[in-house]
Amino acid sequence: MTIHEQAAALDGLKIICGLVMRIFVVSATVILMSGAASAETDPDSGLIVDEHWQLVKTHCSACHSPKLVTQNRGNRQNWLEMIRWMQETQGLWQFDAATETAILDYLENNYAPQAASRRARINRSLMPVNPYASETG
Ligand code: HEC
Repeated sequence: MTIHEQAAALDGLKIICGLVMRIFVVSATVILMSGAASAETDPDSGLIVDEHWQLVKTHCSACHSPKLVTQNRGNRQNWLEMIRWMQETQGLWQFDAATETAILDYLENNYAPQAASRRARINRSLMPVNPYASETG
């Protein structure tokens, strides 16, 4: 190998190392950012900490566990209907317009319907025999 060939090989190596380093930095950044983006929750109520969360904690854990809120999902209309139902039948108080808007904003942003929240059904042939099943299944 001539000195020129060695220099060229070294340059190539530097470029590859630079690329590997860049890929490493970019993926590390992506991992860190996705960690930061995962929602912080209030250890007391389990509510996602986001704008107006304290309002929801105050108004929505007075009668029942805030888990009823965090376990549910809905779009804005669904949440509004649940609130109306509680107001009409469960003694939930009326909110002024600004408070209601803030609560709905929070619920819509943080507890929207999710695509698949259940696992797919396991194939029947992989299941243990069900001793109570009828012949037809
Ligand atoms: C005045 C009492 C009261 C307050 C305050 C209250 N709720 Fe309720 N809520 C109820 C009752 C009673 C139920 C029925 C509980 C049950 O099924 O065990 C209920 C049920 C729910 C459910 C379950 C509905 C379903 O279809 O299963 C959700 C979700 C809910 N509340 C959300 C909220 C939110 C959000 C707030 C705040 C805006 C709130 N609640 C404030 C009384 C209240």
